[in-house]
Formats: sequence, C-alpha cells, structure tokens
Amino acid sequence: MLEKLKTVVENALKESESASSVNELNDVKVKYLGKNGELTALLKGLKDVPPAEKPAFGKAVNEGRQQIEAKIGEKEDTLKRAEKMRKLIEEKIDVTEPSRKVKVGARHPLTIVKGMIMDIFVGLGFEIREGPEVETDYYNFQALNIPKDHPARDMQDTFYFSENLLLRTHTSPCQVHTMEVKKPPIRMICPGKVYRSDYDATHSPMFQQIEGLVVDKNITLCDLKGVFDEFAKAFFSPETKTRLRPSYFPFTEPSVEMDCTCSVCGGKGCRICKGTGWIEVLGAGIVNPKVLEMSGIDSETYSGIAFGMGVDRLAMIKFGIPDMRLLFENDLRFLAQFKD
Ligand code: PHE
Repeated sequence: MLEKLKTVVENALKESESASSVNELNDVKVKYLGKNGELTALLKGLKDVPPAEKPAFGKAVNEGRQQIEAKIGEKEDTLKRAEKMRKLIEEKIDVTEPSRKVKVGARHPLTIVKGMIMDIFVGLGFEIREGPEVETDYYNFQALNIPKDHPARDMQDTFYFSENLLLRTHTSPCQVHTMEVKKPPIRMICPGKVYRSDYDATHSPMFQQIEGLVVDKNITLCDLKGVFDEFAKAFFSPETKTRLRPSYFPFTEPSVEMDCTCSVCGGKGCRICKGTGWIEVLGAGIVNPKVLEMSGIDSETYSGIAFGMGVDRLAMIKFGIPDMRLLFENDLRFLAQFKD
C-alpha cells in the first residue's frame, strides 16, 4: 500500500508540474484529489489495512495530499502569472487610436428661446406664473369677455372635452387666475403649452405661448410700447425697431399687434418677412375694464396691459427655421444644430 501511495503522489507531482494550463492543472486535481480520485481511493482502502499500520498509513496519505495540494497551488500561481505576462505582451493598447465619441445632448430650440424670453422679462421685474392646460370655458373664454356664441370664438379652433371643459387655446386664462389671487401691482409672464385644431407649415395643434400682464395705477399703451421695445432689442438686437398696429381682441381695448423690424434682413425685406421688412411678434392691448372687473379688480383705480406671444414663432424667426413641424419631429440631425 505504501509503495502504491508513493507512486500515486509522485505521478501527481509530475503531472502537476507538466500541466501547461490552468485547465490541465484542474484535470490533474480531479484525477488525484477528486471524489473518485486516485488518492481518495487509497484513503478509502484504509479500512483494509491491518490495524497496527493504520495510523502510519493514514498519516502518509494526508502528507501526500498536502504535498500534492501545495504543488498544485504553486503551479497554479506560476501558470496564472505566465498567462498575465502573455496578455500584457500580446494585448497592446494603441493609445493613439481616436476614442469613441460620447454624444452630448442639446437643449431643444424651443427650450432655449423660452429661457431667453423669461430671462429678459425677469430682468424687467416680471414674475413667472403657470396655469392649467385643461381649462373651463369660463377661464378660457367667458372671463376674457368672450361669452358663449360670441363670434370671436371662431378665432381659436378649440379642442373640447365637454361643453365646459377644454384644452386652453391661449395662455390668457392665466391673466384671470393671476388677478383672482393677486392684488395690483401685478407684473407677470406665464409661459405654457396651448392647443388649437390647426396643422400646417406655420401651425401646430400644440404650440407654446408666453402671456404677459401688468396691472397698476396709470398703466397706458406707452408702457406696452416701452416693454415691447426693451424686449425686442434684447431678444433680437439693439438696432431693432418696433411699431404698433390696431387689432382686435375681446379682452383688450384698444387692441394692437406689435411688429419689429425683421432680424434677418434688418428691415430691407426678405423671404422671412415676406418682403415687408416687418415681423409680427405679438398680440396685445389695454386690458378691457370688463375683464378687470370680472376678476375683482377696480377698473376706476387700476388699468393694465396684456400681451401674448408665440414661442414657436419667435424660435423660427430667431433661428431661421422654415417649417414649424421641424420643431416637433425630433429629428436629431435638426436638433443637434442648437448646441448652445
Ligand atoms: N391670447 C391672444 C391669442 O392667443 C393673444 C393676446 C394676449 C392678445 C394678450 C392680447 C392680449 O391670440
């Protein structure tokens, strides 16, 4: 038995030494030390050894096992180190190779323009407010002096949920919400999404407006012209000129439309301004005293100006975007041009 043990251990040591890979070494381990391994088999044969020789034989098997384990461990280290060296030598990293580009996102042109507009008005002392996109007929129309069946409702093609509930067609309901909770002096703008049943190169069923409202003592059209002038110069360029044209909105009286000189041609006339040299930027006017009264503000003491502008339109003018639908198609080739 002892003779056999000696041979098994010797073979195991030899085979461990000559193993050329970690896999081969594992095979050796299984062959000798595994559940059905040769050394394990010898240990199982212990029961047939005469009692007097048992302790010595048991000890010899254990020593043999330790020797084999030590050898395998040592060999494993050597093989792993060799493998690592081989990899280090073979797998060279070319540090001069260009790296893979990380794609950096860009803000949407509408977000950029909205931010610019808000910055300008905050600089003029306006606060920013928000209102709901789902409105009642009262806030979207009636409180703005557009009673039921008033022909002015035709100006805004409306998405109705029910007779009284609708998607707001403009941000003007925010005027009413603001006046209901705030006493003058009021100076606010309200950016937000609005909805109309319209779809072509210059109209989208969802677009964004920014509403403006100032209510205080002695507010006149001059304040409106002054605010618009400051805004146009800051948004387009200091050379920009502005003008008012008469218009009609039920919630302002008098009502105006405000134009500024075309930022693309400087007023000479081009494709963007359709040859006129002027671009229409917003609808505005003196808040109709009826609207002030309906919202609980004394129209004898106070007066107000209100204006509403289209963010999408301003973005198209600012960036020379020819078709409004480009803003909503989410084509990365288009959007990636607006890195700022
Ligand atoms: N709400 C109007 C529109 O959407 C714009 C406007 C706002 C006009 C405030 C006057 C005053 O067309």
